[in-house]
Amino acid sequence: MSAALIDGKAFAEGLRQKVGTYAEEFEKKAGRKAGLAVVLVGEDPASQVYVRSKGKATVAANMNSFEYKMDDDTSEEALIAKVEELNADPNVDGILVQLPLPKGLDEQTVIATIDPDKDVDGFHIINAGRLSVGQKGFVPCTPLGCLMLLKDRLGDLSGKDAVVVGRSNIVGKPMAQLLTDANATVTIAHSRTKDLPEVVKRADIVVAAVGRPEMVTGDWIKPGATVIDVGINRISSEDGKSKLVGDVDFESASDVAGAITPVPGGVGPMTIAVLLRNTLVSAYRREGLSLDEDAL
Ligand code: GUN
Repeated sequence: MSAALIDGKAFAEGLRQKVGTYAEEFEKKAGRKAGLAVVLVGEDPASQVYVRSKGKATVAANMNSFEYKMDDDTSEEALIAKVEELNADPNVDGILVQLPLPKGLDEQTVIATIDPDKDVDGFHIINAGRLSVGQKGFVPCTPLGCLMLLKDRLGDLSGKDAVVVGRSNIVGKPMAQLLTDANATVTIAHSRTKDLPEVVKRADIVVAAVGRPEMVTGDWIKPGATVIDVGINRISSEDGKSKLVGDVDFESASDVAGAITPVPGGVGPMTIAVLLRNTLVSAYRREGLSLDEDAL
């Protein structure tokens, strides 16, 4: 391995500390804590783990965590009623409905009910629209976290060739938008892209977000490129146990790249840190208090 490791865990820890300090400041100025409400419907074990760690991180950052667990057979009407109650609650600055939702509940319908100014996930179409026309809103946490890691590593991204592999609404599309806004030249590649390895090989910056374990191998990478691996895939390893791997084959890619994020410990920890950041930003905006958002 010759690439530098991009330590997302350490960067996320720093961001969480900063958010915690600003959150204390917020409490002094506003006379209340900033608050994040998380709604979990059903019993999905992975979602339960995520929600628990979000709650803990929120409290550790000096903010209130409001958690709502709803049964697997909750109706869309009942879930929407909960979201509307949270929209109206002045102590709630951020609302997150944990995805995926159980069968029978339409994610787009539910997300559309969230007040866009409390949509700290950045999933509401109003926020997708704001991002696409350059208005202030909320940007999805994972791609914003990736951008922070890239700027920390590379500084100015102007003129860099960036390839985003994957075109999801949650990662690929907003990532491409953020890189474009940062003056990179951006290609969105996906499952139908012709000569995908050659396309990726042109890139100074590769963001892999396809959900296919170890798909991007070292021979796809331009020597010295910066590689951001968004994938979190659980696979069984040789010894019969399971392990987490990214969408990038770390072993071969880290021999060629200039810098690379590991899995775990790369992009993953950034998502919760940015969620806390977005919640705090929402709190300041909602109280009309000034905050240098770009410094966070
Ligand atoms: N499920 C897994 N990650 C996320 C996330 O960032 N936001 C929401 N709402 N659901 C998720």
